[in-house]
Amino acid sequence: MKKQAAAVKEGSGVKNMKQTKGSKKAIRGKRERYAQKNASDRSGRRQERKPSAIKAQHAEARRSRREKRPVEYTQQSENSQYIQWFPGHMTRTKRKIQADLKLVDAVAEIIDARVPLSSRNPDLTGMIGSKPRIILMNKCDLADPRATKQWAEYFRSRGIRAIELDCKTGAGIGSFTSAVRDVLSDKLEAWRAKGMVNRSLRVMIVGIPNVGKSTFINRISKTSKAKTEDRPGVTRGNQWFTLTSGGVTVELLDTPGVLWPRFDDQIVGERLAFTGAVKDDVTDTEQLSLRLLEYMKSRPTKAFLERFSLSGEEAESLAAHELLEVIAKKRGMLVSGGEADTERAAVMVLDEFRAAKLGRITLELPE
Ligand code: G4P
Repeated sequence: MKKQAAAVKEGSGVKNMKQTKGSKKAIRGKRERYAQKNASDRSGRRQERKPSAIKAQHAEARRSRREKRPVEYTQQSENSQYIQWFPGHMTRTKRKIQADLKLVDAVAEIIDARVPLSSRNPDLTGMIGSKPRIILMNKCDLADPRATKQWAEYFRSRGIRAIELDCKTGAGIGSFTSAVRDVLSDKLEAWRAKGMVNRSLRVMIVGIPNVGKSTFINRISKTSKAKTEDRPGVTRGNQWFTLTSGGVTVELLDTPGVLWPRFDDQIVGERLAFTGAVKDDVTDTEQLSLRLLEYMKSRPTKAFLERFSLSGEEAESLAAHELLEVIAKKRGMLVSGGEADTERAAVMVLDEFRAAKLGRITLELPE
C-alpha cells in the first residue's frame, strides 16, 4: 500500500513536472505572440516601448492611486510634437497693434479661462506696457469653476482687474463698462478737472485667435447700444464699436487674433492646440489627441469616463494609443477590416474636449 501510495505520489510528481514544463512553454508562446503583436503593430509605437517601462508606469499609477495623487503628466512623451503657428499676417497685426496703442486709453485682453497663462501673449504684455488693462477671462462655461476663482484671485492679487466671462450666454458682460471706468478713473478725473466731460473711453480688444473677441463684441453690442464704424483716413481699416452704457460712451477697437513667433515652452503650444487657438491644420491631430488622452488619463474626469464608457482602471492602465483605439471601437468608428479608425476618433476626442463634454477642465493652475 505504502509502495502504491509512493508510486502515486511519485507519479503525481512526474505529472506536475510535465505541467510545469507545459506552462513554461505556454508562457514562452505567450511572450512570442506578444513580441509578434508588437512587431506587427501598425504604428510601430509598441515596438519602442519596453515591457519593463510599461510595468514601471503601471506601478507608478497604482502608487499614485493609493496616495490619491494624479499620475504624472509629463512635459514630453513619444506623442509630443513641435507646435508653432505664426503666419505673416500675425507679424503685420502685431505691428498694427503697436502703432494703434496710442489711439486708446486702455486695453482689454481676452484670455481663455481654461488656459489663463498660456493664452496670454507675452509680446502683447510687453507692448501694452503700463497702459491700463482689463483681463477678460472668457469661456468660463468651459473651465473648472474652482480654478477660475483661483485665477481671478491670482490676477486681482497682482493688481490686475479681471472679469469672469461667458460670451455664449453673456454672463459677466455687464461688468465690463464699469471695469473700464474703474481702470481709467484717474484719467476721467483729470478730464473732468479740465472740463472735458463727454469724452468717450477708448479700449483696444486684443487676444489670441479663437479666444472669443468677435463673440464678445457681438454680445456686448447686443446688450449695449452699439454702432459699428470704419474710420478710413484716421485709422485705416480699423473697426470701432461705440457703446453707451450707464451714461458712459466706450469705443472698442477690434484687432485680429495674434500669437507670438515661438513658444519657448512647448507645453504652451500644446495647450493652445488643445483649446483650438492654434489651428488644427498645423498639427498632427492624432498625435495631439494622444497627448490630450495622456492628460485625461492622469486626471480622469467622471464625464470623460462616462462619455467613452471607460472604467478608471481601463483609462489608467491602457497606453494613450490603446485608449484611442478602444474609444474608436466603442463609438463604432471602424475602417474596413474592422480596425479602429483612430484618425476620426482623434478629431472626435478633441472636439468633445473643446465643447467641455469631457468635463469643465482648466489645464493650468496658478503657482
Ligand atoms: P475670435 O474672434 O477671438 O477669433 O473668436 P470668436 O469670437 O470667433 O470665437 C471662437 C469660438 O469660440 C466660436 O465658436 C465662439 O462661439 C466660441 N466662444 C466664444 N466665446 C465663448 C464662450 O464664452 N463660451 C463658449 N463655450 N464658447 C465661446 P465656433 O465653434 O468657432 O463658432 P460657433 O459655432 O459658435 O459659431
